[in-house]
Amino acid sequence: MRSFQESCVFEAHLTKDYYPSGMKMVNLDQALGVEYFGKRMLNVPFYEQKNQYFAKPLEHYIFDRDVLEAVVSFLNEPFGDALYLQGPSGCGKTSILHQVCALLGWPILQVTLNGHFEVNELIGHPNIVNNQLVYIHGPLARAMKYGYILVLNEIDLADPAELAGLNDVLEGRHLVIIQNDGEVVEPHPNFRLAVTANTKGSGEYRTYCGTQMLNSAFLDRFRFVECSFIPHDSEEILLKQVTPYLSQEVQKMMIEVALKVRASHLEALPTQVNMTIPMSTRALLRWGHLIKAYKHCEDPVHLALKHAFTGRLTADEANFVHRLCGDWLPSNLKIFEKK
Ligand SMILES: Nc1ncnc2c1ncn2[C@@H]1O[C@H](COP(=O)(O)OP(=O)(O)OP(=O)(O)O)[C@@H](O)[C@H]1O
Ligand SMILES: [Mg+2]
Repeated sequence: MRSFQESCVFEAHLTKDYYPSGMKMVNLDQALGVEYFGKRMLNVPFYEQKNQYFAKPLEHYIFDRDVLEAVVSFLNEPFGDALYLQGPSGCGKTSILHQVCALLGWPILQVTLNGHFEVNELIGHPNIVNNQLVYIHGPLARAMKYGYILVLNEIDLADPAELAGLNDVLEGRHLVIIQNDGEVVEPHPNFRLAVTANTKGSGEYRTYCGTQMLNSAFLDRFRFVECSFIPHDSEEILLKQVTPYLSQEVQKMMIEVALKVRASHLEALPTQVNMTIPMSTRALLRWGHLIKAYKHCEDPVHLALKHAFTGRLTADEANFVHRLCGDWLPSNLKIFEKK
């Protein structure tokens, strides 16, 4: 086992930080693998070597064009704002920030907040390293100092009074660290702060319990971008990429079921059940993975659907979803693509 001193050195190594060597212009379409931006370029930080703050791109990712435009504009010029991505669970809020940063090579730090969150966890804390009391900077201080993107996930789970401690830095001002002798951390020009949440900060106790009503002065410091599930043709392409082993008929059926579930979450038709939750892209992909995992079972499609999504629903809702699935599944349907 490591001695205490060794582990302090080890921790110090873990929190090693890096300034960029400079900036470079990149063509957005080329860097992001899309065809949306034409000749538009973006000035991004340039590093001689990759470091721990570089995200690994997801193998399959389909950008929502509008959200991508908003994220890129924000990176280009925040005008003293922070960015608030709001939308249903599993629609791709966290992953779009991760993916953009990964592809642009912009260092990113992600923290997920909770009901016990304290701003000091982001700023830092004193600690003993090599017999000396030193101040260890937290993710906010480091992101500000070195120009990373700080993403605070589930911002609406945190206590609004605690979040007020972020008000100054949200609008581009410096951070004063009282615990470290009043150290002043100026925001690096590459520093950006983005948050994600399921609500708009209005508290939604039924579906997203634990969310809080956020302070309106805090919310006033953000640009708001409403996110939704990617359009169904994009989701179809994504499902094909992620589950190439499934037959086209099954993939089509899965997309139809997801669309119907989402539609009846928004508004139930007379013969339908009013779903309390939509089927997320995350759940849809999980369904696809599980069909393969359960290929030796008697009914892999329904079993996978149960474990991926309907297992957490009421009996009425679950029956409704399985019925939808059954309507689309003729008994002789080929589930898997031939190799
Ligand atoms: N556009 C997309 N392209 C590829 N995969 C996606 C996309 N959107 C969502 N996913 C898949 O769904 C998963 C969940 O996405 P993500 O974590 O970004 O959702 P979220 O909106 O942040 O959800 P939550 O509100 O629960 O945090 C991702 O890990 C990814 O597998
Ligand atoms: Mg998220």
